[in-house]
Amino acid sequence: MSFDLVLFGGTGDLTWRKLMPALFQAHRHGKLPAGGRILAVARDERTDDEYRAFIKERFAEVEPSKRPSDEEFANFAQMLHYRRMDLSQPEHYAGLKRWADERGADTVVLFLATSPHLFPVICQQLGQAQLNGPHVRVVLEKPLGHDLASAQEINRVVSAAFKEEQALRIDHYLGKPAVQNLMALRFGNALFEPLWRRESIANIQITLAEGIGVGTRGDFYDRTGALRDMVQNHALQLLTMIAMEPPSTSDADAIRDEKLKVLRSLKPFTAESVARDVVRGQYKAGTVDGKGVVGYLDEVKVPAGSNCETFVALRTEVQNWRWAGVPFYLRTGKRLAARDAQIVVNFREVPHAIFPGTRRANKLVIKLQPEDGLELHLLAAKGGSGSNAPEQLVPVSLDLDFDKAFASERVGGYERLLLDAIAGRLNLFVRSDEQEQAWRWVEPILDAWQHDTVGPRPYAAGGWGPAAASALVARDGCAWAEEQ
Ligand code: BG6
Repeated sequence: MSFDLVLFGGTGDLTWRKLMPALFQAHRHGKLPAGGRILAVARDERTDDEYRAFIKERFAEVEPSKRPSDEEFANFAQMLHYRRMDLSQPEHYAGLKRWADERGADTVVLFLATSPHLFPVICQQLGQAQLNGPHVRVVLEKPLGHDLASAQEINRVVSAAFKEEQALRIDHYLGKPAVQNLMALRFGNALFEPLWRRESIANIQITLAEGIGVGTRGDFYDRTGALRDMVQNHALQLLTMIAMEPPSTSDADAIRDEKLKVLRSLKPFTAESVARDVVRGQYKAGTVDGKGVVGYLDEVKVPAGSNCETFVALRTEVQNWRWAGVPFYLRTGKRLAARDAQIVVNFREVPHAIFPGTRRANKLVIKLQPEDGLELHLLAAKGGSGSNAPEQLVPVSLDLDFDKAFASERVGGYERLLLDAIAGRLNLFVRSDEQEQAWRWVEPILDAWQHDTVGPRPYAAGGWGPAAASALVARDGCAWAEEQ
């Protein structure tokens, strides 16, 4: 299958930090279909060779195991091309269309790795240049809007030029192997499904913690905040995959229909429930990995006195028969104690205890990063008591490390999503109605914060967020994983 992959924003951060390393890995693993061209598009004048040299240099900043040798790069670079484009000029799109038509590849993927404010103009121009035939797909990278109205506006412009199945919205969390494994765990095994409901599950916790701060992205981040940056998309996507009903097939729409139903079943927030069930925080100076770090307000490009949240914890419920009354806790933040993304499914305690000591409920931990695996926490008898007294049980865990088990076959998130975009597999892309519903659900939180004069709660960098986040779960008699 021949393909042309066009990267708008071809010299930008996303391209050289994430997309090029992912494409190179796909090439190295022999997964990139032969007969492909990768065309980077940007504003300045460069030759193909100059662009190749630029990318080669950038690979020095990529983690060593993902860097090509000179020979590997020379091989990969044959696919790389460069084209100057002024994105406001119709004739430049006409030129791009001629470039694509001359070759007539089976598939053309247009990846918009630009600032999102350019999405509307690029999509309009692509439509006008008729670079939107059935063999063309456009890939949109978040942030897609900053609220429901702006997301709807982007979707309106995109859908004027492209059909829904041609517009692929990336949520890079869906490309993570652990997230695909979650589907396998739930729908490829019969073991957990009978237990996957309110009768057996006490609560579910989704944690997306980062040790890093906002780095040099202070201006972008300050307009965004943790709710828009991580909750509206990544955390909610994980929640839908945990809570969805079994789809009838593995088709993209069968899966996305079920995810949408979950989003529609989420308990709507009101001003009162935001005050009660949502905690926002902002990091102060502290210590991460043994190193002193500054607080958010002292990061570069962050406006003085900003109220932007770098941490959110919230409690919600999925209002349907399967999940009624089960709390779902979501938590994300920057400058927390560790990079740690996991979903903890806390099961109910045994209904009647016959062993002495404290009762401990079982839990299933789905680890996304840094490790990718599953831990099932059980109780066991050591068998060593030797007395007449009934034995005290001890916690043990079954531990599966997928990185180890499937080391040679694992592909990274962007690699997977780029390959899927080229192949036209849509399962791991977010549909416009899902994305809009997620905005609809977070909007009351944004509204409530606008009227809240208290601002985010401070937390020391290197901890687990404001104490109010612990109080939020303690109110239900629960604790976050690290407190259990
Ligand atoms: C991005 C956010 O979507 O996800 C970043 O914009 C965040 O702020 C990143 O750091 C986290 O991704 P990962 O894959 O490193 O967990």
